[in-house]
This record gives sequence, C-alpha cells and structure tokens, in this order.
Amino acid sequence: MKPVKVGLLGLGTVGTGVVRILEGHQEDLSSQVGSPIVIEKIAVKTLAKTRSIDVDPRKLTEDPWSVIRDPEIDVIVEVMGGVDQTKAYILEALERGKHIVTANKDLMALYGSEILAKAMEHQCDVFYEASVAGGIPIIRTLIEGFSSDRIMKIMGIVNGTTNYILSKMSQEGASYEDVLKEAQQLGYAESDPTSDVEGLDAARKMTILGTLGFRTNVELNDVHVRGISSVSREDILYAKRLGYEMKLLGIAERQDDEFSITVQPTMVKKTHPIAAVNGVYNAVYVHGEAVGETMFYGAGAGEMPTATSVVADLVAVVKNLKLGVNGLKAIVPYKPKKLKTDEQ
Ligand code: NDP
Ligand code: HSE
Repeated sequence: MKPVKVGLLGLGTVGTGVVRILEGHQEDLSSQVGSPIVIEKIAVKTLAKTRSIDVDPRKLTEDPWSVIRDPEIDVIVEVMGGVDQTKAYILEALERGKHIVTANKDLMALYGSEILAKAMEHQCDVFYEASVAGGIPIIRTLIEGFSSDRIMKIMGIVNGTTNYILSKMSQEGASYEDVLKEAQQLGYAESDPTSDVEGLDAARKMTILGTLGFRTNVELNDVHVRGISSVSREDILYAKRLGYEMKLLGIAERQDDEFSITVQPTMVKKTHPIAAVNGVYNAVYVHGEAVGETMFYGAGAGEMPTATSVVADLVAVVKNLKLGVNGLKAIVPYKPKKLKTDEQ
C-alpha cells in the first residue's frame, strides 16, 4: 500500500496534536483509509525551538515553500496561522494539485470563496472543520447534515478563550488578566489574543457558519462585533444575581431573505442550556425550519480536540483520494445576501 504523504505547516499547539494523533492512532487510521498516512515534511518558524514531541529533525524546515513544492506530497495540513502569506502557500499548493486541510478561520473567513473556487478549478479538496468550534464537527453538520433544511438561526459560543475567561470570572471571581494568561498557557488563545477578547475570532467563525448555514456569501464586515474586554467582574456578578450568565454569543439570524449577524457579550438566562457551557467548551445551537432546535457541544480549542477535527479532515481527504472523488468544499455564494440594517 503506497503511503499518503502529508506536508504539515506548523508544529505548535494544533500541529503537535496532529502528530500525536497520527502516531497514536496510526493502525486504526491506516485500516480506515487503506494506506499509511505519513508526515513527510514539517514547516516551522524556527528550527532552534525545543519541542514537546520527538520528530525526526530531518523532516523539519523553516521554508514552507519547500513543503508546498515537494512533488511527493499529496496533502498539505496548514496549522500555522496567518493570512496573506498562508493564502499564497495554499493557492500554489492547489495549483500543484495538492489537497488542503486547514484550521485557519482567519483565512477561510476572508478568502474562503477564492480558495474554494481555486480548489474546484484544480479538483482538489479543501477541508476546514477545525476552523470553527475546535472539536465539534459543525461544518460537516451544516454542509451535509442540514443540506435538506432551511436554517433560520445559528447561535453559539464559538470562542474557547473568552468562554474560559468569563466562566472563571463568574465561578471563581478570578481576574480577567490572570485567566487570559492561563488561556494563553493552555494553548487556547490566538498568537495575538486581541482577536479573541475583542470578538474578532468569533466574528470570523460566525462569518463561516453564516455562509454555510444561510448558503450565501457572508463577509466579515457584515458582522457587528463587540468583545469582552469592557466586561467587568462586577457586570458578571450582577448578571448572576439577576439569574443570568454573561457569554460572548454569536447570533446569526434569517428573517425571510434578510440576515443579521452579531457577536457580543450577552446575558443568557441560567435556564438556557447555553448558560451551562463553561470553560473552553463551545456550543452551537442551530434552528432549522424543518428540524427545529438542535445543539452541538464540545471543546472549542486546545491541542487534542482541535487536532481531532484536523485529522478527521485528513482521513476524509485520503478516502476521497482513494475513491478518485472530491467533496465537502463549501463556501458557495448561492445567492446574494440581504442584510438587515440597523435602521430597519
Ligand atoms: P501556534 O502558535 O501554537 O503554532 C504555530 C506554528 O506555526 C508553530 O509551530 C510555528 O513555528 C509555525 N509557524 C508560524 N509562522 C510560521 C512561518 N512563517 N513559517 C513556518 N512556520 C511557521 O498556533 P496554534 O497551533 O494554536 O494554531 C494554529 C492554527 O490553528 C491557527 O490558524 C489557529 O487560529 C488555528 N486554531 C487553533 C486552535 C487552538 O486551540 N490553538 C483551535 C482551532 C484553530 P514555531 O513552532 O517554530 O514557532
Ligand atoms: N483562539 C480560539 C479560541 C482557538 O479560543 O476559540 C479556537 O479556534
């Protein structure tokens, strides 16, 4: 059985988890796809760094182009982050006929349609399950599970870092600064945590969910965003006394053919299941016209939950490779969107 060769861009929190799962579950993965999945090369920023896992140093490179341009490599797994340079890597990889798995919501929220159009042109897969809600398979669910329904509302806690901060402030009276530091140490926060705490990370994820759920081309600018940096411990404790939990909620709603998407700190009644979602956990509530209410729950960030989604995407790509088909690539602008403006 010819091995499937993978080029990994990034060996940080998520990349390390990917290597651990590929090694730890090797036998099961190979038997699912019918060949071994082998990491051929790994791009990192600096070779000098001490790593928490053993990898063959001959596989490491500081030059991502040498991974993208390696003719032996079938699939690129991008867990490096960044937007413009990373987009250039991915577009060239697609032009070279390589399939892509990415956890990069910044990239997919901004350039998802361009990347997916390029993937279609070159008959390649682009899978991005880990880009929203870490270990919860919500992207697959929206593309496949609800393809038959008309989604009316998507509401959720889609940022693990801010939920971790708000939960610890509410439950332990901890200080914002201390808990943010903890979330960074645990690998939950973005390299610049401003995007977590100011709601931008959640807005990027809601852009992706809105696009998939409403089957229209939602843009980041369509999302009204407010983060949690202005929420004080007193606000949280006051909300609690009134019977509410403070959560950073993303809400995407459809009314007829109009859409609105917001991300903001919201007081959620303690009796609502979303109020009980604590720590790094995320939850996504989806209301479909036919299915009614559904809710999905799981770890929204961190090494192993996120790597679970990345490797599941990799397995899906390899299965498609074996079958000679492509699948599950969808940021598709089916129809122009109408935004519900503030004045209406
Ligand atoms: P880290 O900062 O932990 O890791 C980034 C990795 O990429 C590091 O190995 C770094 O190298 C490497 N890298 C960065 N820049 C370059 C470059 N220019 N050339 C080569 N290598 C580079 O990030 P995470 O693992 O946390 O996140 C990776 C991606 O996954 C991001 O897009 C993030 O938004 C997304 N994501 C993260 C989640 C999480 O829980 N952390 C969850 C879901 C998605 P070096 O090790 O040498 O510094
Ligand atoms: N920083 C992100 C979060 C990582 O905290 O949710 C997962 O996308």
